[in-house]
Amino acid sequence: MPKLIVVNRAGEETTVEAASGLTVMEAIRDNGFDELLALCGGCCSCATCHVHVDPAFLAKLPGMSEDEDDLLDSSDDRNETSRLSCQIPFTDDLDGLKVTIAKED
Ligand code: FES
Repeated sequence: MPKLIVVNRAGEETTVEAASGLTVMEAIRDNGFDELLALCGGCCSCATCHVHVDPAFLAKLPGMSEDEDDLLDSSDDRNETSRLSCQIPFTDDLDGLKVTIAKED
């Protein structure tokens, strides 16, 4: 199973294994990181699954939809590494992906 490295808001890094086919949001939540609220359950309508992605992986991710872009605009913590984790399918190709949970808005 591909590995995902999650950095929580305290800056602690944890490596988890997640089944390919989940979204990055599901992989984070299923591994007990409750600070990632993901309130809308992955419908791209809440922005509470905001993460910062390791820049080395940005080019491997699917493009951002207009909805995701608009939602991220509502976050003060947005920068060029911001993505909504529910919009990133976790695949073998992303093995070793590191994401940092964004600050709470
Ligand atoms: S879980 Fe709501 S936008 Fe990702």
